[in-house]
Amino acid sequence: MTSKYTYCRPAFFGFELCRIGGEGSPSGMAPKPLDYDSLNENVKKVAYAVRGELYLRASELQKEGKKIIFTNVGNPHALGQKPLTFPRQVIALCQAPFLLDDPNVGLLFPADAIDRAKHYLSLTSGGLGAYSDSRGLPGIRKEIAEFIGRRDGYPSDPELIYLTDGASKGVMQILNTIIRNENDGILVPVPQYPLYSATISLYGGSLVPYYLEEEANWGLDINHIRQSVAAARMKGICVRALVIINPGNPTGQCLSEANLRELLKFCFQENIVLLADEVYQQNIYQDERPFISARKILLDMGPPISTEVQLVSFHTVSKGYWGECGQRGGYFEMTNLPAKTVDEIYKVASVSLSPNVPGQIFLGLMVNPPKPGDISYLRFAAESNAILESLKRRAHIMTDGFNSCRNVVCNFTEGAMYSFPQIRLPPKAIEAAKRAGKAPDVFYCLKLVEATGISTVPGSGFGQKEGVFHLRTTILPAEEEMPAIMDSFKKFNDEFMEQYEDYRDLASRRSRVTDAMALVLHAGNTNKNSFKTLIAADYSGVQVELTKNFEMGVSNKTSITHLKADSPLYGSSRMDYAHIELMIDFALMEVDANISSWLYLRLGYMPYLAFAEESAISCLKRTLHVLNPHLAVNTFLVGHFVTLVDIIMTCNLYLGFSLIMLKSFTSEFPHAERYFWTMVNQPNFRKADSVPSVPSQKESQTKEAVKPKEVKKEPKQEAVKPKVQEVVEEEEEASKPNPKNPLDLLPPSKMILDEWYNDENTV
Ligand SMILES: Cc1ncc(COP(=O)(O)O)c(C=O)c1O
Repeated sequence: MTSKYTYCRPAFFGFELCRIGGEGSPSGMAPKPLDYDSLNENVKKVAYAVRGELYLRASELQKEGKKIIFTNVGNPHALGQKPLTFPRQVIALCQAPFLLDDPNVGLLFPADAIDRAKHYLSLTSGGLGAYSDSRGLPGIRKEIAEFIGRRDGYPSDPELIYLTDGASKGVMQILNTIIRNENDGILVPVPQYPLYSATISLYGGSLVPYYLEEEANWGLDINHIRQSVAAARMKGICVRALVIINPGNPTGQCLSEANLRELLKFCFQENIVLLADEVYQQNIYQDERPFISARKILLDMGPPISTEVQLVSFHTVSKGYWGECGQRGGYFEMTNLPAKTVDEIYKVASVSLSPNVPGQIFLGLMVNPPKPGDISYLRFAAESNAILESLKRRAHIMTDGFNSCRNVVCNFTEGAMYSFPQIRLPPKAIEAAKRAGKAPDVFYCLKLVEATGISTVPGSGFGQKEGVFHLRTTILPAEEEMPAIMDSFKKFNDEFMEQYEDYRDLASRRSRVTDAMALVLHAGNTNKNSFKTLIAADYSGVQVELTKNFEMGVSNKTSITHLKADSPLYGSSRMDYAHIELMIDFALMEVDANISSWLYLRLGYMPYLAFAEESAISCLKRTLHVLNPHLAVNTFLVGHFVTLVDIIMTCNLYLGFSLIMLKSFTSEFPHAERYFWTMVNQPNFRKADSVPSVPSQKESQTKEAVKPKEVKKEPKQEAVKPKVQEVVEEEEEASKPNPKNPLDLLPPSKMILDEWYNDENTV
């Protein structure tokens, strides 16, 4: 066959010859430019898990009539969040300006919405139907600069603020400006939001991952970032930018001021531009780490860092209590970029003529909402607070729900809109996934959507460490539906684990060790102190079994156990060890002592005295008020993994959480609560049936806590003991006074202990 050649694009000697026709082309034609094989390879490389295989399967199931709960995208209105009234009133008037001339407009719209619509229309050159300046309307950029100035305490320059169709477009534009070729590296947190991996692929750069530490509540470790940079440089990659997502997506953590300082110093030392994705700055669900912008810390740090480090910060109307994803309003602000670069970015923005104008007005409204005294203020404040408060509650329901599931652990969602639980998949499930040709987390998530209709995103779409599996859900489903969603997740998960967990292996491993001399603990199977030994033994790889048919006072034996000095349960340094010792005292003297006093009064082991109960409760509250802020910023009590004190603390909290502390009590200490649920769901706490599952707090809310037991003498009955009582009785048996003690036979003392106790002179 003869081949024809035509001039196609500049190459060697000015032109490259392109062949038309020839073998391999069924029509005798060369592949067309938009045939799959001839596409830009970078386009083919782009992967976007948020709308990937799981999403497609969920959509298919929906078409087949199954109810699907789409928790895969942070798209609040799609999941039923109502728009805020004031901004929609303003936009409605801007879209239909003739309404402003209607004499009845004041009957339908409040005066401040009418004024605001007129104001924004006056900033445009021809209303919403006209292109604006390619950087956005100057009047709105000025309002954004004023907002940034109020937020950070440093003035901002509207000339350095560009408006975009959502933050994504801004991120893409800046990455396009930075990436020159495949040797340009962008440091991206892993797990990451796939906008970054996708855009870096699209523009042909290299993603340089830095791993967030799940055990440290998804904190970042600057040494790991250094190592990532060093490894990338060894491969000839020039690291040019560092991305932070604060609060994190999918990980939900908020960066501390110290973290931000370290990062900025690092960027200064390494000559790296910082890209601060701050789209979730309104979504904060705890008080310990409020949102602080990277720009504020940069400017706080003073020269040379404040004048040298280049920073681009991104924000949007898609998140926060606005959730106006479909309006596509976003902006970026540039700090320390030379004027010529800013001009180049302007030039490229001009190619798309103009960001969408309604989105720009939403931005104006977001940075300049109704103020106290405005007609619409109270309504606006009530609507926005209700959304944020509900998101906060949903974050707790999700975290607690995940942590109550078998083989699932989840850090608390401190901010943003996502929950990112780790699913500890048993080897049999991983093998089954392999056989099905799926990644293990994809396999799990597909089974989940098929069984429950809950559509999530497998963790591999965000990046995760080798052999570790997650899924991402949003916390956006309606609050009233949340408990049912979590129940159905739990049912699915626990059945999945039941199906794939290999009990035969576990049993044979146990019996092998038992044959090889298992140690026997002579204690009851409801005693919190036996749990401590069993869990510590599991962590240490020592086989300990509870004796069968244990009877208190008959088959109990005294034993002393101690961990070996080099046990990892003592932490990773001598300092850790010292902290562990200190905290063990705290767990015994402050946590155990107060929970026990409260419980024993209620169970009638001590004469019920209201003041004694009040005192135990207030001491316990004081203790939890100390514990709670510590756990807001730490996953574990000491260091970054489970240590002996976590085992002791959790077992000491166990009776409190399972028997006496109602949800209304514990919700005052959300981090202590999250900690407890995280710990009791650690595999070694559950393995060997160490800690029996704790009744859900949802249930205990509806029931009454343990009622004070009447101290009056009743005829002895052989009735079945309530479970609560059994657990505690067994524990207390040893410490209860022996009824045959001769001192019991003495007449009651004349000394009134209450009076003596309340005596002012008593120290
Ligand atoms: C971290 C992060 N950055 C940026 C975006 C994009 O937001 P926008 O809708 O403004 O494009 C998202 C959206 O989910 C996000 O999670």
